[in-house]
Amino acid sequence: MILYFSATGNSKYVAERIAKATNDECIFILDIMKDEKCFLSIKENENVGIVSPTYAWGCPSVIIDFLNKVSFSGKKKSYFYYIATYGTTPGNNGYLADKNLSQNTGIKFYAFFSVKMPDTWTPIFDLSNKETVTVINKNAEPQIDEIIQNIQQKSSGNFMRNKLPKFVAPSYKPYYENMRKTKHFTVDDSCIGCRLCEKMG
Ligand SMILES: Cc1cc2nc3c(=O)[nH]c(=O)nc-3n(C[C@H](O)[C@H](O)[C@H](O)COP(=O)(O)O)c2cc1C
Repeated sequence: MILYFSATGNSKYVAERIAKATNDECIFILDIMKDEKCFLSIKENENVGIVSPTYAWGCPSVIIDFLNKVSFSGKKKSYFYYIATYGTTPGNNGYLADKNLSQNTGIKFYAFFSVKMPDTWTPIFDLSNKETVTVINKNAEPQIDEIIQNIQQKSSGNFMRNKLPKFVAPSYKPYYENMRKTKHFTVDDSCIGCRLCEKMG
């Protein structure tokens, strides 16, 4: 099973590309978070992958909440792997994910991967140039192929590119809290009430 969170589609794309190659099913994390127990059953020989964007050099709060809530039955010795999509650096994403998963379940990831994708932190990065975005997306393909090979071989280790040293990890929280302030978000009469933003929150 491949569990993913994606706000704008990059991580969803990576999860689905891998699922196709490994004959896995993809599960959107917010769908199972609705279940109070957040319980997942692992089948014989099943791998468990988690795919997430990088937020503030760390994990989105959805991922942290999920890793602290989920419980697994069955093959706890299954091959667990974590993939961060990122724009400039995945920071300490893998370290934070591993810490939260192991504190809650006792399970540790065997492998950590990263895929560089268009950076959706739009206050700083400009995604309006189609050519630039196309080049980044094209360059992501061999990175995903390499991850698929590693998953098929059940490789273990930290294969994340451009990650930051562990001592930077404590800066994640204040950086993230500051980043997610919502004072610039407003709703006006053009809101059609589809509630998509609420569901994605
Ligand atoms: C709030 C926010 C914070 C982000 N922080 C980082 C970051 O610290 N490092 C980085 O490389 N990319 C960062 N990004 C970029 C995303 O991690 C990247 O574009 C990711 O592929 C988006 O995945 P998604 O389309 O599945 O949501 C950030 C994006 C957002 C929206």
